[in-house]
Amino acid sequence: MNDKTTGRGLLSGLTSTGDRALSAFLRRSFASSMGYSRDMLDRPIVGVAHSASGFNSCHRHFPELIEAVERGVLAAGALPIAFPTISLGELFLSPTSLKFRNLMSIDVEEMIRAQPMDAVVLIGGCDKTVPAQLMGAASADVPAIQLVAGPMSTSRHRGERLGACTDCRRFWAKFRAGEIERDEIDAVEQRLASTAGTCAVMGTASTMAALAEALGMTPAGGAAIPAVDADRLRMAEETGRVAVSLIGADHLRPSRIMTEPAFENALRLLLAIGGSTNAIIHLTAIAGRLGLDVSLRRLNELTDSTPVLVDLKPTGAGYMEDLHAAGGIPAVLRELRDLLRLDCVTVTGETLGDRIERTPAWVDRAIIRPISAPVRDNGGLVALFGNIAPRGAVMKRSAADPDLFEREGRAVAFESVEDLAARIDDPALDAAADDFLVLKNAGPTSAVAMPEAGYLPIPAKLAKAGVKDMVRISDARMSGAAYGTVVLHVAPDAASGGPLALVRSGDRIRLSVRNRSLELMVDQLELDRRRAESPPSAAARPQRGYSRLYQEQILQADEGCDFEFLRAPKEAETGER
Ligand code: FES
Repeated sequence: MNDKTTGRGLLSGLTSTGDRALSAFLRRSFASSMGYSRDMLDRPIVGVAHSASGFNSCHRHFPELIEAVERGVLAAGALPIAFPTISLGELFLSPTSLKFRNLMSIDVEEMIRAQPMDAVVLIGGCDKTVPAQLMGAASADVPAIQLVAGPMSTSRHRGERLGACTDCRRFWAKFRAGEIERDEIDAVEQRLASTAGTCAVMGTASTMAALAEALGMTPAGGAAIPAVDADRLRMAEETGRVAVSLIGADHLRPSRIMTEPAFENALRLLLAIGGSTNAIIHLTAIAGRLGLDVSLRRLNELTDSTPVLVDLKPTGAGYMEDLHAAGGIPAVLRELRDLLRLDCVTVTGETLGDRIERTPAWVDRAIIRPISAPVRDNGGLVALFGNIAPRGAVMKRSAADPDLFEREGRAVAFESVEDLAARIDDPALDAAADDFLVLKNAGPTSAVAMPEAGYLPIPAKLAKAGVKDMVRISDARMSGAAYGTVVLHVAPDAASGGPLALVRSGDRIRLSVRNRSLELMVDQLELDRRRAESPPSAAARPQRGYSRLYQEQILQADEGCDFEFLRAPKEAETGER
């Protein structure tokens, strides 16, 4: 158990002084200054990487989660040492949290690698934190286990349940349409997010928690327990115990758990829960750290044979606390078992099949439907391809209006998010309900770094006339809690010179979800002429710092928006694995 017999623990990865004995002496001395006994310092170490921050409301309960993890680690005989990393509070970052996901992943990777730990617990929750932690852990490939924040609980407004953040958008749309007054929207503002935890619906945070479980990186049932429930603390304690069991278990390193079949299981679950479009980007990025691909074409192959099974907002009626009470992700995985690779090993050493075998039989069918009577027969997401999106785009069809799936429309184009903000509510805007709103220059290589601006607001004059949904197309992302007929992640993006940049107001665009296609009905000669007339203007290059690194390294959405230098070489490139 101690460094003398295994070389693990406090004395692994000594600080370089040119004298190993001196380095060991100094490290023990400074560790002793924190009041640890020698017995404690001789134990193997479980690092507890947490992302608590005063700028992250979703993580405000992390101190007690950390304490519970530490209890589990100590009870299992190791020494827990908590350390902070960057935190990404979704609503506290500018221009958008995605810009900093890769930075956080670097922090997580390097601090796992540089500090003496034999295993690590990753505590995250808010949208980008879990993917950043899994990306970092995949690259470091030290035994790791994920603990998520858990979802917020709902509150009440005038007798109605409220939960961030589908209801945020619903009430904001009502306010924009003049259906509710300022005093009511102010009251709702106070009630949308009233407990610790991540957004209460199947948004990006909940989706990533579910996918971490499907990948095998959490204990069974780890995804959906509410943040403030005592079960969340028990899950934290169990996570600490399991982390100790990972020490020295080479076959349970992240690269052995997050394998190609495990990513396929995660994709199946993503489709079955009607999960967030953002998750495609994150799964692709995590897989890329392991030399694996998550392709949009494969997503399309899986989507037709994967039914949506959970009835949660934004696509349905319930909230995450209902999913937990209904049986949680284990119950969903059991429904999907005939579609899953059951031999995938998980962080507890069990296979996915073992976990499903021991999942309690009871399930609330109002929230988790049987595969024989699903919420919908096919998956929540589809990828679209065409001359606007040669490398693909993504649409959450489970949150969209099927009446808009097969149609042709006139483009109303916006050059940037600033242009959108300036003109969308202009009474003179030439827009009708059956037009397609197009937003350009909001992709990963743009100056705004792919914000969640793809849910373009319905122009005020149309919203007031009762229009609830329109076809919207962009290279931006959309909050996982949003809904509508919204085509996102168009790749390559406009700022890098992708064909989306060539769309002009008045062009005709044809959308066919059935054919998975998105076509600009403008002939190639005209498009060539437009390209020659206005070649892509390189965005102003930041001169220094992280923004410069971002601009130089950022990849497109279909490559997970990771940095080129952080990805692992593919098997074919190395001949290994
Ligand atoms: Fe943190 Fe929604 S804002 S999960």
